[in-house]
Amino acid sequence: MSKELDSLLKEERIFKPSSEIVENSNIKKWMAKYGIQSYEELLEKAGKNPEWFWDELAQELGWFKEYTDILKWDPPHAEWFLNGKFNITHNALDRHVNGSKKDKIAYIWEGEDGEIKKLTYHELQKEVNKFANALKELGVKKGDTVSIYLPMILELPIAMLACAKIGAVHSVVFSGFWAKAFQERINDAKSKVAITTDGFTRRGKLLPLKENVDEILKNTPSIKNLIVVKHSGIDVEMQEGRDLWWHKITKNMSEECKTEVLDSEDPLFILYTSGTTGKPKGVMHVHGGYAVGVYATLKFVFDLKEDDIWWCAADIGWVTGHSYIVYAPLLLGATSIIYEGTPDYPDPGRLWRMVENYGVTVFYTAPTTIRMFMKFGEKWPKQHDLSSLRLLGSVGEPINPEAWIWYYKHIGGEKCPIMDTWWQTETGMHLITPLPISDLKPGSAVRPFPTVKADIFDDEGKSVKEKGGHLVIKSPWPSMFRTLYRDPQRYIDAYWSTFENIYLSGDVGRIDEDGYFWIQGRSDDVLKVAGHRISTAEVESALVSYKGVAEAAVVGKPDEIKGEEIAAFVVLKEGNTPSEDFKNKLKYHVRTEIGPIATPKYLNFVEDLPKTRSGKIMRRVIKAKVKGEDVGDITTLANPEAVDGLDRAL
Ligand code: PRX
Repeated sequence: MSKELDSLLKEERIFKPSSEIVENSNIKKWMAKYGIQSYEELLEKAGKNPEWFWDELAQELGWFKEYTDILKWDPPHAEWFLNGKFNITHNALDRHVNGSKKDKIAYIWEGEDGEIKKLTYHELQKEVNKFANALKELGVKKGDTVSIYLPMILELPIAMLACAKIGAVHSVVFSGFWAKAFQERINDAKSKVAITTDGFTRRGKLLPLKENVDEILKNTPSIKNLIVVKHSGIDVEMQEGRDLWWHKITKNMSEECKTEVLDSEDPLFILYTSGTTGKPKGVMHVHGGYAVGVYATLKFVFDLKEDDIWWCAADIGWVTGHSYIVYAPLLLGATSIIYEGTPDYPDPGRLWRMVENYGVTVFYTAPTTIRMFMKFGEKWPKQHDLSSLRLLGSVGEPINPEAWIWYYKHIGGEKCPIMDTWWQTETGMHLITPLPISDLKPGSAVRPFPTVKADIFDDEGKSVKEKGGHLVIKSPWPSMFRTLYRDPQRYIDAYWSTFENIYLSGDVGRIDEDGYFWIQGRSDDVLKVAGHRISTAEVESALVSYKGVAEAAVVGKPDEIKGEEIAAFVVLKEGNTPSEDFKNKLKYHVRTEIGPIATPKYLNFVEDLPKTRSGKIMRRVIKAKVKGEDVGDITTLANPEAVDGLDRAL
């Protein structure tokens, strides 16, 4: 068992939520309706009858036509709320505008420069309708994909909701990726329409997004139109016949737009994520089940109430933002904060000042951000009144007990339970998570959400307790991804074949004697750098695409703040000499191929990589070296001298 898991095992502190939190929680009130007395009883009752649980929650949303069946499970394919007619935008906007929340604030947006914009549900609906009409006029129809490459500005959720409204499928690409990633994803999705902005600022530095997109659109034959949001105001060249300004095409559009009546199982979005091979996977989610899953988890895990101010400080370009900035809070009719910029800009007090200014009550972020603020010190949060906070959340990577305690003490004032939520792009919603009624152990994601059958398997597929193993999910959940876009076989092979018809998460962890889950991280070749998912294969393929590079191996090196940093080992082709200049150019190449987040922090030139006799790179050996651990059995190595080479490089 690895050292990290060992250290987590030593954590024995238990934190109980206050009776005020428990008694006022949504889950407790919901349990009372069904005469359920305890957390244990809830898990048991829901576990025995998942269809009852999900049916009750689905009934809280609006259906154009009731579903006839709750679940059809034909492993590994699930359908939920069969024959139901539904649209997520109808539930996120129209329902509220027609009801009591018409003038409630949906989003408070703050720009990195301090500019503030607010949109009520009605105003948001009007913007969505205008843009949906503009899309329709460009010929976008139900089932078409629309590729979106926008930073954290209000037009991003508006564009997503507009696509959903007319039944188009959005494919959002994180604006921190380089445009090359956008190109690949446009070509995979064959979108006719793409959306971007002139530019945006990060740490006060301008990033000319449109200019970068112009370059890649030379290689995207499906694109007919590029819609450009005027945001930074920089000069951009607009290509006649192809490029259109957002503000111009929406200006005279009607503020009314009919919401498309869709089937529960109609696709809502594709979100590309890294797998173990170089090609990103197009994770596909649908309208009905996804909506019910994210709605239920935000309601019960983060306990949102009418007057809450919710801040999920993630980027909408990742699944956390899709589920818990865009869809779930709107489904609940909540007020959310969207922040455009970097958390420590212009100083490390930025987030805490915003919590104070807006009276944020529930705050959700990633361990990497917490560790970064730990480093800056508690003097920054101390300067602000954070007493509005009631609950905190963590997501994206394991949270170490030290960071958990710091967050609890210095942000939560020792009164806010921390919801450490485990989930993935594929799961759509939290699957292993505390509820506000659970006792907490720092570093543990606690128990599966009601109905979810999570387990730890050994290599043979046997369930193990108090021992490390593979995290698996043994039954379907409403917001599970339905397939991988254009690659249904990979859906089966990557997730459902190692253990037949059991969902393999790719993570390793352990269940303790109280049934608590301790999730350690990935077991496959996927890295988590500052909570961002990057595959070693993607970085390796970027490295070897550079002139003069023969071979490359990439592994994660543990990092105090980011969790992991990328360490690359590169073999050059004959006639090339390692140098600082070569190293910098190579790093820059990866940066422009994928994005700044994928740039190797450590890049080492070696003469050879450790390989098996069949020529497979033994990443295990490289990993051990990078971590300073024992390399273990290397008798199967064809070139043991390569291990000495690693030593010299490190
Ligand atoms: O390794 C797990 C880690 O993040 C992976 C999923 O990454 P992604 O699809 O990008 O989604 C991130 C946001 C949901 C998982 O396989 N992970 C996520 N949450 C946790 C976590 N690891 C430990 N604890 C968590 N709470």
